Amino acid sequence: MTRASRLDPPDMDPPAGKIEKLRNAVSHHQYRYYVLDEPEISDAEFDSLFRELRTLEEQHPELRDPNSPTVRVGGAVADRFTKVQHQIPVLSLANAFGEEDLHRWRDRLLRLLPEEEHSRLGYVVEPKFDGLTVVLQFDDGRFTLGATRGDGEVGEDITPNLRTVHQLPLQIPVPEANGRGEIQPPQRLILRGEVYVEENDFLSFNQEQAEKGERTYANPRNFAAGSLRLLDSSISAARPLKLWTYQIFVEEGLENRPGSHWDSLEQLRAYGFPVCDESKRFGDDEWEALIEFVGGWDELRTRLPYELDGMVVKVDLLSHQEQLGFTGKDPRWAVAFKTGGEEATTRLLDIGVKVGRTGAVTPNAVLEPVPIGGVTVQAATLHNADYIEELDIRIGDTVLVKRAGDVIPKVLRPIKELRDGAERLWQMPRECPSCSERLERPPEEAATYCVNNACPDQLVRKVEYFVSRGAMDIVGMGSKQAELFVDEGRVKTLADIYRLPWDEIEEIEGYGEKRIENLRRAVEESKARGATRLLTALGIRFVGSVVAELVMANFRSLQDLMSADLETLSEIEGIGPKIAEAIVSYFSLEPNRALVQSFADLGVDLTMPDRDRGDSTGDLPYLGKTFVITGTLPTLSRAEAKERIEAGGGKVTGSVSSKTDYLLAGEKAGGKLEKARQLGVPILSEQEFLQGVNLKE
Ligand code: IVH
Repeated sequence: MTRASRLDPPDMDPPAGKIEKLRNAVSHHQYRYYVLDEPEISDAEFDSLFRELRTLEEQHPELRDPNSPTVRVGGAVADRFTKVQHQIPVLSLANAFGEEDLHRWRDRLLRLLPEEEHSRLGYVVEPKFDGLTVVLQFDDGRFTLGATRGDGEVGEDITPNLRTVHQLPLQIPVPEANGRGEIQPPQRLILRGEVYVEENDFLSFNQEQAEKGERTYANPRNFAAGSLRLLDSSISAARPLKLWTYQIFVEEGLENRPGSHWDSLEQLRAYGFPVCDESKRFGDDEWEALIEFVGGWDELRTRLPYELDGMVVKVDLLSHQEQLGFTGKDPRWAVAFKTGGEEATTRLLDIGVKVGRTGAVTPNAVLEPVPIGGVTVQAATLHNADYIEELDIRIGDTVLVKRAGDVIPKVLRPIKELRDGAERLWQMPRECPSCSERLERPPEEAATYCVNNACPDQLVRKVEYFVSRGAMDIVGMGSKQAELFVDEGRVKTLADIYRLPWDEIEEIEGYGEKRIENLRRAVEESKARGATRLLTALGIRFVGSVVAELVMANFRSLQDLMSADLETLSEIEGIGPKIAEAIVSYFSLEPNRALVQSFADLGVDLTMPDRDRGDSTGDLPYLGKTFVITGTLPTLSRAEAKERIEAGGGKVTGSVSSKTDYLLAGEKAGGKLEKARQLGVPILSEQEFLQGVNLKE
């Protein structure tokens, strides 16, 4: 029997029957794709189902349904959000900072629960997701209301925006989600979840926005929150929002309610909700193991592609939860575990400045070394002169520093109460620290620039960017080499990278023959990257990889682009006046035109691939292959590995199944490695992966 036929509802009149059948099929496949990450059909097949459904719905407006899977594209524009009173107040969690606090929490449970219950005491530990809390309501299985937390009593109705979140089921159970036959939805279900954005998605979104000269967000959490509160839900629909659900608050009209939190998570999964599988259950006799597991959260958060705000420990049995109840605003049966936090105070010893690729000069803090979240921090960004002035940050101040995940630490504010009068005001220097040329601050800009195009520091940054992966991708050439070549005067313009005298370089200390040869080959190979990459690599303001692609789709070569005028550029879809102007002004400068000419003379490919030649598949070693990445890789970040796989035509999913073609495993690989072994999924080390060996036919 095919899957589709199992989705057939009993005989119904067309088109109602057909629409229902299609809605079930589309919901089912959205679930397979977005929640399980295990699609059963190709994107093309899915698109055709989706299109057919949308056409039918357009032809039959009388059969419209706000919960049809086609609503995920959003649409309605509101002028404000309606307030909603929460049926159950949305409470927060008490914090436990460190082990001691956790022991105290358990002691209290043991005091409050009757002796005879102690042997039944158990816990569930789960990640504390760092996104935006949402309250979701389902009536008779249909998604009826989604709200923000608000002040805990009254939130905002963001139902239309939530409908665009692909992982949120609009109808439960999702057809065939549970795979264990029919289950009935409760009359009313109210649950809580967290809408979040993966770090990679956040970074690429911000990058694209910056390239377009549009607003960026400070962190994934702000991004998720901002996206859910857009008045035009079609814009939310285009944001990569994801969802975890973690707690049921109301479940009415169900005969067999789960008796434990663990079972209710299982039940949420069966309905088709996304539930994180990093959670773990412990008996009270396993308390020590629980402590160890909770302590592993620092490792967990570096492994997961989204941000965590700690771990939550919950009492497992719902009857125990009821007995324990609440204190003021927190449940006694749950606690959020965090390590000391990601902020610390330390002394600001000095303020230095660093010259960037565009000549922008940014002040940075020289700090008395301080451990934050397991890493010693001794430098942090201070953004720009206005930031320092507005916050009144002075040299010698005790300052609050924040380090979140892998991002550059930043100085949040001075602790003015601790001043002793010896602190000094800081001023942006007048001269460039690298080339001593004059610094300038254009009116209406927050940044200060070094005006010297030949400034060595600026050039080093330009070279770093030119050779980076998204640009010319010259492996083996990094900051060290850039600095060295600029310092020695071997690289004076970007084109000099292609004029490096390899025979002389052989004499540099620490450079073996093999290393030189690899570098020489990488430089040589990069000549063939083509016009889009080269345009990206030039580092023109607002022109990153995405914009470069948009632009170059309209030209045959870089020379072709060079002669385009403002009007032609502005007509390109997605290119605003700011970008068009930046490009024209870059190519209006003689040294820049000469640079492009030198690239051409040196044999760098300035053309676009000829689309008619039909060689567009290029080198796609992983075409159609599914990878799972686990553990810590020795040199690549997960994002980098993913990027490489995708560039090679493959795809990366989150969990190992029989459909996985390869597991790319690093250090501290856990359950996924185990599972891959059981299923006989080939396991690659980073080295094998990078060398392209041990791939299946
Ligand atoms: S349970 C009655 N579990 O953290 C309280 N909350 O400080 C039940 N959060 O905004 C909350 N991950 O929404 C729970 N796995 C998780 C969570 C979680 C994130 C949020 C929660 C609230 C905050 C509480």
